[in-house]
Amino acid sequence: MTMRALLLNHSATMGGAEFCLMDVATSLRDSASVLLLEDGVFRRRLEAAGVDVRVVDGGAIHQVRRDSVAPSAAALAGLWRVTREVAEIAADFDVVHANSQKALIVGSLAMVRARKPLVWHLHDIIDPPRFSRLNIKADVVLANRCVERVLAVSRATADAFVRQGGDPAKVHVVYNGIDPAAIDAFAPSSEQLRREIGLDGVPVIGCFSRLAEWKGQHVLIEAVGGLPGVHLLLVGGALFGEQAHEQSLRDLVKARGLMSRVHFLGQRDDVSALMQCVDLIVHPSTAPEPFARTLIESMLAGRPPIASACGGVPELIESGRTGYLFPPGDVAALRAILQRLLASPDEVARVAVAAREHARRHFSLPAFVDAVTAHLHDAATSRTSGRARRRAQEASA
Ligand code: GLC
Repeated sequence: MTMRALLLNHSATMGGAEFCLMDVATSLRDSASVLLLEDGVFRRRLEAAGVDVRVVDGGAIHQVRRDSVAPSAAALAGLWRVTREVAEIAADFDVVHANSQKALIVGSLAMVRARKPLVWHLHDIIDPPRFSRLNIKADVVLANRCVERVLAVSRATADAFVRQGGDPAKVHVVYNGIDPAAIDAFAPSSEQLRREIGLDGVPVIGCFSRLAEWKGQHVLIEAVGGLPGVHLLLVGGALFGEQAHEQSLRDLVKARGLMSRVHFLGQRDDVSALMQCVDLIVHPSTAPEPFARTLIESMLAGRPPIASACGGVPELIESGRTGYLFPPGDVAALRAILQRLLASPDEVARVAVAAREHARRHFSLPAFVDAVTAHLHDAATSRTSGRARRRAQEASA
């Protein structure tokens, strides 16, 4: 019998974790359904890919933020209702996969009722100060008590979970995988795109990430500011209520007199084509990045990523061989690397070849989906066999 999996995610906005879930759900569409706690673009994308999607309105639980100190009464009442509805839906499935922290909380409480095995896919480095003590405590207690397995997107992510008190025996590192075909498909349009955005014949640096303070775009703006004639494309929007931060980036560009060289392109669907029309790609996070899919996408697009060395990033990039690392927040170090690489196209081309090969070999989409599926399967069967064993023991006692 095929295993039926329910894939639970609180958000319907497309962040990195949602792109991962999109791949899992598409591959398992004959045996899995997605359950979202709000309606939005993710639901439409999943449906367009032929995935069965259900939506249970999470209501006030969406107001709880990762740095919240205590949930409101409305959030708790909402949680009670959502938990009941999720438990009813889960009754038709063999295993539940929680893809976010809110999904872990809802999933854990719902599985107390539904008695189905739960797997938590951990896409965050759960250290303070980005996460409140209360959030971290809730994650760790629920994971240790209610979850069969925790799938961490990098060693750094797994280590943070254990450092915060998570059970090491439950954690498995599963690196994300990216489909190279999705990136190659855009290659022919990149030359034309560069002409269209008026950047023909000038050096262009790209950054492909949502606009958030910890993604560090301000560091890159400062670095590019000191490189006369170099243009910067910032691709990505303020997705999770970070509009004030977008404004502060625009103010910084103005204050440094860089309006003609820094271009805010917003959220785009043609990221792969844009990656192939810039000379260099930088990912300047100032806080530990759990994985950063954009690094692997850059490698597949033939652009070795230049990234700040924090979180899981050094697990993805070997500096000088498959990309370049610099200390987080270090404007001068980043500027020096950019200056050197813009003058060394042969070196960039050589590293690009190694980076592409590295991404194809170590971050393949089929390997990622197979690993997630195997963990879901093992969680489903070990729970069943554990129960059968206990029943047999009880019967023979
Ligand atoms: C989250 C993390 C990011 C990771 C993504 C997919 O968005 O912040 O680093 O790439 O999940 O796992």
